[in-house]
Amino acid sequence: MKIILLGAPGAGKGTQAALIREKYDIPHISTGDILRANIREGTPLGIKAKAIIDAGNLVPDEIVIGIVKDRLAKDDCKSGWLLDGFPRTVAQADGLSEFAECDAAVDISVPFEILSDRISGRRMCACGESYHVSTLNGATTCSKCGGKLYQRADDNEETVKNRLNAYKTQTAPLIDYYAKLNKLITIDGNKSVDEVFKAVCLELEAK
Ligand code: AP5
Repeated sequence: MKIILLGAPGAGKGTQAALIREKYDIPHISTGDILRANIREGTPLGIKAKAIIDAGNLVPDEIVIGIVKDRLAKDDCKSGWLLDGFPRTVAQADGLSEFAECDAAVDISVPFEILSDRISGRRMCACGESYHVSTLNGATTCSKCGGKLYQRADDNEETVKNRLNAYKTQTAPLIDYYAKLNKLITIDGNKSVDEVFKAVCLELEAK
């Protein structure tokens, strides 16, 4: 299965990706995770990307297209993949279509007024696990690995405004893009994580 996860910042792409990866045994490729790993490691790409991500803007198309092209060429992607956060512009979608074709593009749709709360309440663990403060009951460590939870650098109010704006102007047009290709699946993301996951699986299996 070759799947693209669309959806605004905070829509639940990463949360659903972890479940989809486990159920369908396909690699989860998040351009955001790859960029953040480069920032942590201080690579030239990470140094360039940090200022852009901290401002809530999009990293240039040619950089992320190159990252995804290299990643999809790896052996573990031969029989399927799950792209999370890519493509994010029409140019990226066109770029992807030159070296890979998806089976479905899943748009997780959540009202904008809910997204800011989800993002500002998100807490992360270095192991990749993600939480929301409303369900942590004051816990400050990861229930899976015991790691210390932290807030992402770009999960602050000002940056979130820019990220949502970048989504509206540059990423939302991909909904029509994939609808025209008859690949679009739209899921109501304003439900519990389990309900969203059930809906995603039902739609994917019907595609
Ligand atoms: P990226 O890492 O892709 O971030 P994003 O798209 O902004 O998405 P988020 O990770 O914020 O949210 P999510 O949808 O994964 O939600 P999550 O599951 O965590 O990108 C970061 C930056 O990198 C970009 O701004 C850009 O600069 C750069 N970048 C990345 N890819 C790029 C590209 N292709 N081109 C150019 N630049 C690129 O959930 C959020 C919160 O909600 C969590 O607290 C979670 O617990 C909670 N939650 C999840 N589901 C539910 C639910 N159903 N009900 C209640 N709460 C829920």
